[in-house]
Amino acid sequence: MIRHDLLIVGGGLAGLSAALGADPGLKVAVISKVHPIRSHSVAAQGGINAALANHPEGADDTCDRHAFDTIKGSDYLADQDAAELLTSRAIPTMYELDHWGVPFSRFPDGTIAQRPFGGAGYPRTCYAADRTGQVLLHTLYEQAVRRGIVFYEEWLVTDIIVRDRKLVGLIAYDLAGGEIIPLRARAVIFATGGYGRVYLKSTNAYINFGSGIGMAYKAGIPLKDMEFVQFHPTSLLGKNILITEAARGEGGTLVNAQGRRFMEDYAPKAMELAPRDIVARSIQTEIDKGNGFEGQYVHLDLRHLGREKILKRLPGIRDICIHFAGLDPIDRPIPILPAQHYSMGGIDVDATCASPVEGFFAAGECACVSVHGANRLGGNSLLEAIVFGKIAGESASRYLHGGPAEVEGDRETADAARALMSRMRSIHERDAGENVFQLLNRLKRLMSDTAGIFRDAPTLSRGLEELAELREAYRRVFIYGNCGRYCHEMVVLVEFEHMLEIAEVILLGALERKETRGSHFRKDFPKRDDAAWLKHTIITRSEKGPVITYRDLKAGRYAPQERTY
Ligand code: FUM
Repeated sequence: MIRHDLLIVGGGLAGLSAALGADPGLKVAVISKVHPIRSHSVAAQGGINAALANHPEGADDTCDRHAFDTIKGSDYLADQDAAELLTSRAIPTMYELDHWGVPFSRFPDGTIAQRPFGGAGYPRTCYAADRTGQVLLHTLYEQAVRRGIVFYEEWLVTDIIVRDRKLVGLIAYDLAGGEIIPLRARAVIFATGGYGRVYLKSTNAYINFGSGIGMAYKAGIPLKDMEFVQFHPTSLLGKNILITEAARGEGGTLVNAQGRRFMEDYAPKAMELAPRDIVARSIQTEIDKGNGFEGQYVHLDLRHLGREKILKRLPGIRDICIHFAGLDPIDRPIPILPAQHYSMGGIDVDATCASPVEGFFAAGECACVSVHGANRLGGNSLLEAIVFGKIAGESASRYLHGGPAEVEGDRETADAARALMSRMRSIHERDAGENVFQLLNRLKRLMSDTAGIFRDAPTLSRGLEELAELREAYRRVFIYGNCGRYCHEMVVLVEFEHMLEIAEVILLGALERKETRGSHFRKDFPKRDDAAWLKHTIITRSEKGPVITYRDLKAGRYAPQERTY
């Protein structure tokens, strides 16, 4: 049996930061479904927020102003203590990253360059051209290798073993070896990322099935605020590749088929730099009103920025447009539309990243602390992943040094691994049934059609009904090919079960929240309702199905105001 003090699941920014935040004296390992530098964090483009006040127009910026923008951007659903913790750690985090060697873009005076981003009162997004995630991930990986952290690469964790609300172990599928492996640890941190691929159109990598969130739910850990799904305003038509918010931060404009900068109708002050929920809704409204091109997209125009600025600040976006759309944004506008991008909700953890299960912690996009509330500001996710990843590593170390009683569980963990193996064998032995890839496509379409930017009760209820049919179909699933090493069909089959749970929790949370807040827009309840709904949705799995409760959010010094931009 493989044994560690601390197992971290996920090799992206949150997972690596957790590994670096853990006490070096502990036996720590990171399990990752892919080689760590292929984690989805690598795809983050525009930047990471910290009130460094380096920009000439941002000299008055402070952590408090960053906190205020984050809380207002969250439509006042963020826990204010957590948002203030995040923003107060932002500045030291940036200098630590700088000292570790992150090649940030620089101003002429040598300070870290900053650019404007949506919903921010000051230009506070630090960046490395438009490849910020990539440079951060590579640097943190270097630090983790330097520290001697053990990596189990291309291992998919399939189950969490919990007894009496205490963590016992994990089960993993070693993709290259084709084997199911039981693992024991006294503490586990999940940093497994988001669930973008539950939707048809997503900026997320194909690995982002979100199964970590589903696994935690299956193990009895509640999920929080899952109805809040972020749709990024600008994804490339046809491919849904992210076209960074930095393109608008650098001055790019959104234009409809009539040639109008339509954001003046929706956010006359902030225009293209309103928060994402507002910009995505505005674009979708223009498309729905028939003001889009070919009924399906609008233009993001960068031409006026000029060749030099595009080559210097947005070289990756130019490459993406050339290779995936056959156009050069120096000469032509980019066809864009909104696509699923991020999950504000996730595994219910507190500001120390601890969950209700002893020894189980979570950080990054799979977790909900909650700092983003109903809508996350661009540039706050890389920050959250790194800050709360580190906090999770520190919290798990404190927990381990507190000497948690050794939980007996070798037999239970080995039995769970054997049970998974025999389940897979029996599915493999079927010679007919449902194809999991077809089920996956049905799920994605269902979620896009029923839990998108605009929602209402009849559509959400239809989503739940169709989901129940999909669940039934999944019982008849079978494996087409010969499955041994790198069995992608088995990966999808295992993860799909968790995706069904995630989809149900999103739909249910959205159906029950009878108001509009941030990314959750109810056509049948189009107003925010602070009297009834300043609270978090908590959904727990039971034998009889999901159980919904609500928890008051942690208010603070910023009273809810009307959110105008
Ligand atoms: O638009 C972007 O570059 C994405 C940033 C983010 O999600 O924070």
